[in-house]
Amino acid sequence: MDSKFLKGKHIVLGICGGIAAYKSAALLRLLVKRGAEVQVIMTPAAKEFITPVTMSALSGKPVVSEFFTANSGEWHSHVDLGLWADLMVIAPATASTLAKMACGVADNMLVTTYLSAREHVIVAPAMDLDMFAHPSTRRNLDTLRSYGVQVIEPASGELASHLVGKGRMEEPERIVEIIEDYFRNVSLKSAPVQNRDFNGKKIAITAGPTYENIDPVRFIGNYSSGKMGFAIAAEFARRGAEVTLISGPVSLPTPEGVNRIDVRSACEMLKAAEGPMERCDYGIFAAAVADYRPANEAETKIKREGVSEMQINLVRNPDIAATCGARKKAGQLFVGFALETDKGLDAARAKLQRKNLDMVVLNTLADSGAGFGTDTNKVTIVTENSIIEFPLKSKQEVATDIIDSITQLNDA
Ligand code: CTP
Repeated sequence: MDSKFLKGKHIVLGICGGIAAYKSAALLRLLVKRGAEVQVIMTPAAKEFITPVTMSALSGKPVVSEFFTANSGEWHSHVDLGLWADLMVIAPATASTLAKMACGVADNMLVTTYLSAREHVIVAPAMDLDMFAHPSTRRNLDTLRSYGVQVIEPASGELASHLVGKGRMEEPERIVEIIEDYFRNVSLKSAPVQNRDFNGKKIAITAGPTYENIDPVRFIGNYSSGKMGFAIAAEFARRGAEVTLISGPVSLPTPEGVNRIDVRSACEMLKAAEGPMERCDYGIFAAAVADYRPANEAETKIKREGVSEMQINLVRNPDIAATCGARKKAGQLFVGFALETDKGLDAARAKLQRKNLDMVVLNTLADSGAGFGTDTNKVTIVTENSIIEFPLKSKQEVATDIIDSITQLNDA
């Protein structure tokens, strides 16, 4: 099952010394199965957690770890590896390696290769929750982000220490999806742009979920991946538009040429979106905004001791599409989304009116392959005077259909 985007790609997989190193074997297997050529580099500490024999058997290549082969004295060139790589992925990335990468401490093959890598670098941190939350780790990750390194935020859950919190390395299947998305975006970017029909136009797009904090470690959120909104942003940018993307928490790279504003909650999203929506020619509301938020966010972690039952009081969040829709000016065109389980068309039409939108992109959870987390979507585009049903397509293709429909609506 080769992947169109991974086949033949050269990937350097860096593995650091952490319990999550066992997951790297699964990650390596998935990458190789999808047709990628993978060169594994292990830090000396990684070998305490998983053996190079396993990794070389799975990759079909000797693992590189030291600067020299002990017996022959053969030198392993980090420069060559850095040039060979189409992508470098470090999973798990420990606090110590992240710190070395941020400061350029080139004392092992992995960090020297990182410093020599010319292409994109993705890190999937894994560590104890306190190490992850430590200001030095946060600062190092911010530094790496500022160098263009893509950080796959660790998930929350039970850690090797048996403590529960944020620090678990993202699952290999998800890391592979993120890698595929990266190569998909690269191939889209390198495709010839025939149609720059949005040259000079301003676009504002909301995308992804919102997280509504309950206390410092818990929130109410949803499964939105942000992929649909990001695909629309990428397509508009390719077609020459000036795009502002207001995104909730997602682990997606920023599409080329797109101005991205990261937010967390619905209130933050509204605040960030108001200006761009007011100034834009086209406003797209693709975010899965939480309809409610906890009335009060606890300042410290809510404890369970002595509490057998609890209620969280919720209050309504602002409706970003409706708020901006009410202020829509002549010449602006606004597009919303509707995710419905039943009576989709009626609900989509009602949303056109209620939110003062010009178009609603309807997807129904009953359609397999549509909705959250998937790479495909099956939509019906509803305007005041038309209903167009599209077959199941990739989210990139759906983005093109939506933008083409906007063009037609504009010309009508
Ligand atoms: N939306 C928004 N702000 C909200 C809720 C929704 O901007 N607080 C936008 C979404 O981005 C989407 C559209 O409104 O474009 C429809 O969202 P949806 O959740 O389907 O509609 P609701 O108005 O919340 O109605 P319901 O969930 O009851 O169907």
